[in-house]
Amino acid sequence: MSDFYTQELNSLKKRAVFRERKIFDKNLIDLASNDYLNLSKDFDIFEQTVRELRDFGQFSPRASMFVNGYTEIHKNFEEYISKINNFENGIVFGSGFLANFGMIEALIRKDDFLCMDSEYHASGVIATKTLKNEQFSFFKHNSAENLDDCLYKKNLNSKNRIIIAVEGIYSMSGDILNREIFNIADKYNAILIVDEAHSFGVIGENLLGVFDHFKIQPQKNHIKMGTLGKAVGSYGAYILASKHLIEFLENRTKSLIYSTALSLFDTLYAHNSIHKIYNNSSEIKSELLNIRKMFRDEVKIEKDGLIFPIKIGDSNLVIKYRDILKENGFIVGAIRPPTVETAILRVIGRKAVSQENLKKFFEILKNIN
Ligand SMILES: Cc1ncc(COP(=O)(O)O)c(C=O)c1O
Repeated sequence: MSDFYTQELNSLKKRAVFRERKIFDKNLIDLASNDYLNLSKDFDIFEQTVRELRDFGQFSPRASMFVNGYTEIHKNFEEYISKINNFENGIVFGSGFLANFGMIEALIRKDDFLCMDSEYHASGVIATKTLKNEQFSFFKHNSAENLDDCLYKKNLNSKNRIIIAVEGIYSMSGDILNREIFNIADKYNAILIVDEAHSFGVIGENLLGVFDHFKIQPQKNHIKMGTLGKAVGSYGAYILASKHLIEFLENRTKSLIYSTALSLFDTLYAHNSIHKIYNNSSEIKSELLNIRKMFRDEVKIEKDGLIFPIKIGDSNLVIKYRDILKENGFIVGAIRPPTVETAILRVIGRKAVSQENLKKFFEILKNIN
């Protein structure tokens, strides 16, 4: 029997955008993963979590949250994360992908309109496939003006709900959200979804993300989504919002209703890990500031978060650069279309990488051509 997708796979190979999963050498210095604070290897938190789960007597959720998969572990975490972020209520999800896809598919009803930043994550973009063309549009990345224009021209009436979707720190460009977008959301009485996957644990007075960074008090129209598999070093996600919006999501989000609840280990590990971030935020912040300064001074990239993209442009070349860096002991992301418009090296300023190693990395990078 012949293979089914040979033509498509050959085309990906020809364009140098073919993907493969690889196991990288553990000894490589990690400037690629989203484990910003190195909490994926905190065995104190691990041991504490295992001890607490032993006492609890269960580690697998066994069912959807709406059957009997919801436990005190989930509830305590939801209460804690809502409280520190000043939101009325919160709910855990199996992953950030499930949270974005499920929430967006649920929120945009007939007659509603979604305006999404053109750099929004694929997990939200894919949800637009469930909508009719007239129900959504993309606005120019981080442009409050273009968003305003787009909503104004749409000439919506009061029965149309408006939903805007943006990120706190964008996953590929590393750009921080334009604060002005909060004002546009208020102007149109729109629901504003802020995906804080890459801002939680990285920016803000208490390292809680962009609401914290901009000192914005959460309102009834705000939704904050955060993931647990990045700075938190666990897995899963959460959505914070008003009681009313969470109630609606509980009743309409298929990725919550028809999916097993988040694992108890991941939930409790995240709870303990966030506790550690929150209680040590001053110390962590000063370390992160030093990393940003080094990128600014050594390679002239100034960012508010810890994602430092280096434009390469050519998909073959980005792989070559990634491999040279690997031969020299460093692993970075080689990101190609369609994830980005043109190829970039995605370098993550991780807390665990020493200043000495970071300097070595910059030297290799400068001599790479
Ligand atoms: C901005 C953004 N949102 C959502 C997700 C999805 O999160 P998860 O990896 O938990 O599915 C990611 C990460 O892949 C992301 O970068």
